[in-house]
Formats: sequence, C-alpha cells, structure tokens
Amino acid sequence: MIRIRNVSKTYDTLRAVRNISLDIERGAMVGFVGPNGAGKTTLFKMIATLVKPDTGTVHVDGKDARFFPAPIRKKLGFMPAEFGKVPHMTVTEYLSYFGAAHGIPGDRRASRIEDVLMLTDLTDRADMPVAAGSTGIKQRVLIAKTLIHDPEILLLDEPAAGLDPRARVEIREILKELNKIGKTILLSSHILADLEEICDSIVIIEHGQRILSGDLDELKDRLREDSYKDIQIETTEKAIDKALAVLKSNRDVSHLDRQRRKISFRTTLPNANPILLALIQNEVEIKRWNEEEPDLEDVFMKRTKGVIG
Ligand SMILES: Nc1ncnc2c1ncn2[C@@H]1O[C@H](COP(=O)(O)OP(=O)(O)O)[C@@H](O)[C@H]1O
Ligand SMILES: [Mg+2]
Repeated sequence: MIRIRNVSKTYDTLRAVRNISLDIERGAMVGFVGPNGAGKTTLFKMIATLVKPDTGTVHVDGKDARFFPAPIRKKLGFMPAEFGKVPHMTVTEYLSYFGAAHGIPGDRRASRIEDVLMLTDLTDRADMPVAAGSTGIKQRVLIAKTLIHDPEILLLDEPAAGLDPRARVEIREILKELNKIGKTILLSSHILADLEEICDSIVIIEHGQRILSGDLDELKDRLREDSYKDIQIETTEKAIDKALAVLKSNRDVSHLDRQRRKISFRTTLPNANPILLALIQNEVEIKRWNEEEPDLEDVFMKRTKGVIG
C-alpha cells in the first residue's frame, strides 16, 4: 500500500530523515516510535505529500507522490500532532466545514458526518462547541475530521499525546475499530507502550534513521536477545550449597547472590529452562522459581542508547 525508498530530507543543515526505506501492507496498523526530533512527523508529511523528500521516492497505492499528490491526498487522512486553532464551531459545523473543503456534496455530507461521529464515539457530542471539549474529545474530533473523506489510509501523528489514561484507552479502541473496518493506520508516539498494544508492527526511528522495524512479536524477541533475565529461586537449607555450586559452574549465569535459602542470579539465555534442569538433575529441591521478564521499554532504551546519545 505504501512503498518508501531511500527518502531523505534536510532542513538547512539538519538531516531530519536519512535514507529511510519501508513497505507498508494494506490493512496494517504500524506504530512509529522514537524520541522527539527523530523525524517521525517529517516522514509522515512526506507520505502525506505535504513535504517533498530531497531524494528518494514514496509510492502510495502505486502512485508516485512526486507526480500524483492529489489522488494520494484523497486516499489518505493526515492528523497533525496539534489541534491548532480551536474554532468557535460545534462539532458538526466543524466537520461540515472540512467535508465541504473535501468536496463532499451537501446532500451526502450529513450522513458522512453521522458516520464519522459514530466511528469516533462522538454522536452525543454533535452539537457541543469544539472548544468546550476535553483534550480527549478534541482528539476524537480531530480523528473524525481526518476520516471525513473516507480515506483508506490514516496517518495519525502522536494521537495519544497529552491524554489521560482513560482517553488513551478510548482512542485505542477507536483505532482498533477503524483498523478492523479495513483502514491502513500509521501512528506515531515517543512512548513504545502506547503502540505496543494495538500495532502489529513497529518502526523505531532515531536521528532520522530507521533503527529497527518489523512484526512486534518478532521485534520483542530480537530485543530480548540482547537482554537478560533476573531469576530468584528458593531452595532448602540442605540443598543451598549444592545449588550455589551448580549455578557457579554454569556459564550462562552471572550476578550470583545468596540470601539464606534464596538465590538470585542473572542469565542472558532467552529461556532459562536448561538452568532449572541442571539444578533438578543435581537433586536440588526448588521451592520457588521466579523470573523477571525485562520491560520492553527498558530494553528499547538500552538498545537505542548509543544513538540517542
Ligand atoms: N519545518 C522545519 N524546519 C526546520 N527544521 C525542522 C522542520 N520540521 C522539523 N524540523 C527538525 O527536523 C527534526 C525532525 O523533526 P520531526 O520530523 O518533527 O521529528 P519528530 O516528529 O520525531 O519529533 C527535528 O530536529 C526538527 O527540529
Ligand atoms: Mg513529531
């Protein structure tokens, strides 16, 4: 659906996007994650034909963004990170205004507005002034506006920024629903956890470069490979020395520490079963075995630390 090849964009001397290539399938829900200034917005604007890459190409549904911006804009809705100036209009008036701007004829506009209000769970806010809405409501109004011309692709720049947890969940549910009805969705965040739950794949961007991308589950596995697990076990008075000896001789064990009948250690093995097995084979009775899975956010921070610095 979207094919990006070697795009770069420099503002004066600042290289905002550096040689990014990417393919996005129809119907995908892709999260773009990276710290502020990473180049997410610039990349989105290049896809939305709002910024021209200096080099490289973007194709949307087979059309080259350099030569066919108009049909691409019809197919795609771009939601900016900020609301901008909040108008003195009701939600319906606001949507009607943008419906007209998109050339939706008057007789079809009302039903289209009804549809987008339903999709964004705003039906009962139709006559409310936009300015009176909470941040969460305003964000949903922005999504409704982005949907008004029924685009196949949604580019949502930081849709969860500044929202309280409840509003975050509401937006998440709306995005899931939109993806279910077939929209291809690209969304960005500087917080991985915002994207983790709803995206099938993520693209990690830093300093204008694509650092990692792929299926979210695969990526988690890959991130965990250069990670470690902390394990706590509890054994018996009788077995504690044996347990320590077995662990000490294991090359995959480090940070060994003992407190009475409890032992803690660290391993880089993705699966710690061989360690458990070695203990059991040496007749060490395990009363408790506890693994602390690494927090993906931590691993991500560690993985990208060099580049952030
Ligand atoms: N219109 C612009 N003029 C000059 N510099 C810009 C412009 N837009 C973005 N930048 C710079 O490009 C870099 C990438 O910005 P941006 O794409 O907004 O990243 P992100 O959305 O990940 O925060 C930042 O250093 C930003 O300051
Ligand atoms: Mg941005």
